[in-house]
Amino acid sequence: MPIFLDSSRLAEVEKYYRMGIIRGVTTNPTIMLKDGVTGGLKGIEARSREIAQLIAPLPLSVEVTTNDPQGMIDQGRRFADWAENINVKVTIHGPNGELENMEVIHQLETVHDVRVNVTAMMSAQQGLLAALAGATYVSIFGGRVNNMGYNSCEEIRKLRVVLENIDSDAQIIVGSTREVLNVIEWLEAGAHIVTVAPDLIKGMLVHPYSKETVQMFLRDAAQVEAQLGGAAK
Ligand code: E4P
Repeated sequence: MPIFLDSSRLAEVEKYYRMGIIRGVTTNPTIMLKDGVTGGLKGIEARSREIAQLIAPLPLSVEVTTNDPQGMIDQGRRFADWAENINVKVTIHGPNGELENMEVIHQLETVHDVRVNVTAMMSAQQGLLAALAGATYVSIFGGRVNNMGYNSCEEIRKLRVVLENIDSDAQIIVGSTREVLNVIEWLEAGAHIVTVAPDLIKGMLVHPYSKETVQMFLRDAAQVEAQLGGAAK
């Protein structure tokens, strides 16, 4: 039950990678824009290559920037060539519900040998179809599901049961973290992976009572050291 980092900031990726606590990284065009990636596809390529090299062989998800079917296939093949550990994010359907994305996903996985992360999904039924199309990863946006008034844990639980029933190898990634609590609740509900926003990892780690306890240890250690110093004289 690993966690991935949902970020394209090299410094954040490096920080958590060096701690040994992340098992992959996910990005999307919105994250890249927020994280200051510029320069069009060249900029995306440069940042993706840097992250992929830093975390190799752990996986990095990079999302296509077009919804044209042939364009998605071309970009998917190109992105996967940047590094062996890059997998390609394709949305479950187009901006107006266009269905061509499913064939793109199937083609990338089965004809072009590209690992695909199907993204922007809100339900177990979408996840099932993405897995049937051959996706390596199926990404449910848990926070957005909750924000629509549905129970993300219920969708995750159903999807995990259904994928196991059909012996699917697809891995469920749950993203769109909004609260620290999401990480454990989604893993508990059946997510194989939760991709976590950097700030929330800090929130998982730091506890006010742990702080107080560490302060007590250090205060008392200083006193013990002072006493030892006195005894040695
Ligand atoms: C997951 O892979 C996505 O990158 C991400 O978690 C989307 O989250 P958002 O709802 O915060 O945009």
